[in-house]
Amino acid sequence: MTSRHNSHATKDKMTKADIIVGIQWGDEGKGRVVDLYAQNYDVVARFGGGDNAGHQIKVGDVEIALRIVPSGVLNPKVELFIGGGTVINPIGLLEELDRLAAIGVDISRVRISDRAHLVLPYHAAQDRANERARGTAAIGTTGRGIGPAYVDKVARTGITFGEFARRESLAEKIRQNLLHRAALLEGENLASEADIVGETLDAAQRLSPYVVDGVAYIHEQFVHDKRVLIEGAQGSLLDVGYGTYPYVTSSHTIAGGACIGLGIGPTAIGRVIGVVKAYCTRVGGGPFPSELHDERGERLRKAGGEFGTVTGRPRRCGWFDAVAGRYAVQLNGLSALAITKLDVLTGFERIGIVTDYRLRGQAAGFSAAGASDLEVVVEEVEGWSEPIGDARTMAALPQAARRYIARLEEKLATPVELVSVGRERNELVRLD
Ligand code: GDP
Ligand code: IMO
Ligand code: MG
Repeated sequence: MTSRHNSHATKDKMTKADIIVGIQWGDEGKGRVVDLYAQNYDVVARFGGGDNAGHQIKVGDVEIALRIVPSGVLNPKVELFIGGGTVINPIGLLEELDRLAAIGVDISRVRISDRAHLVLPYHAAQDRANERARGTAAIGTTGRGIGPAYVDKVARTGITFGEFARRESLAEKIRQNLLHRAALLEGENLASEADIVGETLDAAQRLSPYVVDGVAYIHEQFVHDKRVLIEGAQGSLLDVGYGTYPYVTSSHTIAGGACIGLGIGPTAIGRVIGVVKAYCTRVGGGPFPSELHDERGERLRKAGGEFGTVTGRPRRCGWFDAVAGRYAVQLNGLSALAITKLDVLTGFERIGIVTDYRLRGQAAGFSAAGASDLEVVVEEVEGWSEPIGDARTMAALPQAARRYIARLEEKLATPVELVSVGRERNELVRLD
């Protein structure tokens, strides 16, 4: 009895891992927020997605775009863990590591879970073929093979990084997978079997030193009281279960996905911080109720540099959507919000906030987002004209900007703890 009681007490007292997730359709600025928070942690861990993500970080003269390496990378003391819930293109990862090493980053801090799945060239080919088959209903994927890799995982035909230790079996599994989907891949521009097997074995050799027993690794961090920051990729509204299905990615991007993606229980989680842009963007197809199709959308795109990190596609832009925001607060159980890109709204005389959805005269929730006859209620608030990039305190922000932050806080019923006003690490306002 006593020992049972004690073990519970220990669990409650252990250092908890905090999570940072995007709460819109991705590209909220998670990378820059993780980079900032990482200063107070020992490990930054990615739990899901793959190189469909693109996280840009700017610290002084250094500017990087990360795909799969965790965004704590510019904090020299932090270990970087890529968890078992991710899908990783080994060739892409090697290129990313080489790019980082070339600018002096110590990449020996990277660890890859043996449970992570491989994304291989046939996944990207399948992704392209699937998109073509969808025609006008195409999802607008990043074309990186993410969906097909997750399909393989669930279909139990996937290949994990743990296989790197068994070269013969790794080669055989690739051959089998190519054989079984030969008809599907016919006509696709795909390397030969020998090349795919050869390249993967080479990559396996180079990446093997980074592969660890992922579950043992993360739990060791807890045993040693290390502070773990868990990094989300994509956004909550792209979650495969709770996003704007089927216009979603193929993983669980919400905070709950962190437990699955790292092999930890909910008792290991402390705070959950939601990153939210001061307006909305989406890249790819699918519902976007607050989208602006006029020159205001253009203006947001231009001022915010809203072009995809991975594909270079222009991002669709619109007003802040508080209905979507409230939904995401619930999905993630958010402790606090970090608002990004407030500076982009400078110069708008009036700024819109979508406060409610209406469907055939009735109030509707986020589940109605895809309805063709959905109407949105827009509240217009006063804008500001002064540049705000130099503001470091709330008092230094124009009154209208402070009111805008307060309105978002109120609409999402969640405290704001950080507002970023520029791309640089230090261009931000902390709220107490
Ligand atoms: P992520 O995928 O959520 O990490 O976001 P991305 O990196 O894809 O996109 C966010 C973009 O906005 C990046 O280019 C950032 O450098 C940039 N950014 C982040 N915060 C701010 C900000 O407060 N103001 C401005 N102007 N740009 C920002
Ligand atoms: P970060 O981490 C924005 C979108 C794609 C597409 C859909 C499915 O940078 O926020 P996929 O290739 O995953 O099968 O594409 O999801 N998407 C993202 N959009 N930011 C991302 O990542 C995204 N990752 C996937 O554009 O609509
Ligand atoms: Mg991005």
